[in-house]
Amino acid sequence: MDAIRIRGGVALKGNVRISGAKNAALPILCATLLSDGESLLRNVPALRDIETTAALLRFLGRGVTVASPEVRVAAGSDIRPEAPYELVKQMRASVLVLGPLVARFGRAKVSLPGGCQIGARPIDQHLKGLEAMGCSIRLERGYVLAEGPSGGGRLRGAEVVFDMPTVTGTENLMMAAALAKGRSTLVNCAREPEVEELGRVLNKMGAEVNGAGTDVIHIVGSDRGMLAPFDHAIISDRIEAGTYMVAAAIGLGSDVTLKGAEMNDLEALVVKMRAAGVDIASEGQDIRVRRDKPLRAVNVTTGPHPGFPTDMQAQLMVLMTLAAGESVINETIFEHRFQHVPELQRMGAQIALRGNTAVVHGVERLYGASVMATDLRASASLVIAGLVADDETEVRRVYHIDRGYERIEEKLRGLGARVERVKGAEA
Ligand code: EPZ
Repeated sequence: MDAIRIRGGVALKGNVRISGAKNAALPILCATLLSDGESLLRNVPALRDIETTAALLRFLGRGVTVASPEVRVAAGSDIRPEAPYELVKQMRASVLVLGPLVARFGRAKVSLPGGCQIGARPIDQHLKGLEAMGCSIRLERGYVLAEGPSGGGRLRGAEVVFDMPTVTGTENLMMAAALAKGRSTLVNCAREPEVEELGRVLNKMGAEVNGAGTDVIHIVGSDRGMLAPFDHAIISDRIEAGTYMVAAAIGLGSDVTLKGAEMNDLEALVVKMRAAGVDIASEGQDIRVRRDKPLRAVNVTTGPHPGFPTDMQAQLMVLMTLAAGESVINETIFEHRFQHVPELQRMGAQIALRGNTAVVHGVERLYGASVMATDLRASASLVIAGLVADDETEVRRVYHIDRGYERIEEKLRGLGARVERVKGAEA
């Protein structure tokens, strides 16, 4: 297993290009199942989750060529609508084939994703929505068996009210509704930019989606039995951008420009970082981050977009470990998303946990140590901590980070960081 070794103490300087959005690419690649034609997705980051999605589409019967930043999904209609446990267990987002498969082929067998490091993460809202569209759903031996009305017929448009905004739940039902008979109305939807981006692509494919990016989405299903293929370049990754903004801000004297980052998608984070004393400016398509003042403590509560993103909670916490005063961080989306805390404590951070609340008392400095990555965003937070810690930090099990950050050590080195990947390091 690889590790990342960092010698801290260098304030980052220079430009970094932000890659395409992982959480936009995954549902859009699954949307190719709604069409028999050849689709092309551009600006796709080179990530393990993209490879896993490509492997899943190939298993289903589509030819896929991954030549980052392009992914080409070949034409084809001979589909085996089954997503096996072996692939789904590698990446929960594989559940995003469920909606397109049952809408397009009248039936689907998809492994239940099961829990993950950060929470139980059930898919009851996905299933509830498909049932409202006339699907019969059976759970058998760890699989979801979904079948269209009267033994595999076409889904019917329906009104679905989500109990909570769910990103992949909204996306799965948008794709199902795009081929359902008549109109669907989805209420209390997730409003993330990635959901909006999927809406754009479905409309490009000939669907009729209105309101993606708001809490109510209206969809009129296409009567052609399938949608047209697409050629689309995806939006940049706001969470990767946010991660580099914090990596820049952690060092006093830093000055970093993020190329191709969308400030509007990061408002909640920008507000908190400015309140903490970080200088953030939008420069055309770019964001410039500088810090020349001591950090101030701020309180944060995560929430659905446009609230503070849970995918930035761990990274922001690292910033607060060096801020003057006490900050309170409430995690409201996932019940086990503080696994970076004991690792940060090993580096000298002062953090007290009470349920889903972390109370961070700022300290003078962090110390280099060997630490263990547990999930994607936790591992990013440990790398950021290593950038500012004394001496050397070794982040182990970085396969987590390769799922969502393209060439992170190269990009950080481009900003002056002393970072290297250690192949086959101890687990
Ligand atoms: C998406 O996960 C993202 N993944 C996650 O990013 C992100 O953390 C999350 O949204 C929240 O922003 C992708 O887009 C591929 P949810 P998702 O359904 O869709 C509960 C990363 O780091 N819920 O919006 O799985 C659920 O348990 C990843 O890139 C139900 O109870 O998250 C959670 O508490 C990690 N039943 C809340 O809703 C359901 O049927 C929000 O989860 C669905 C969700």
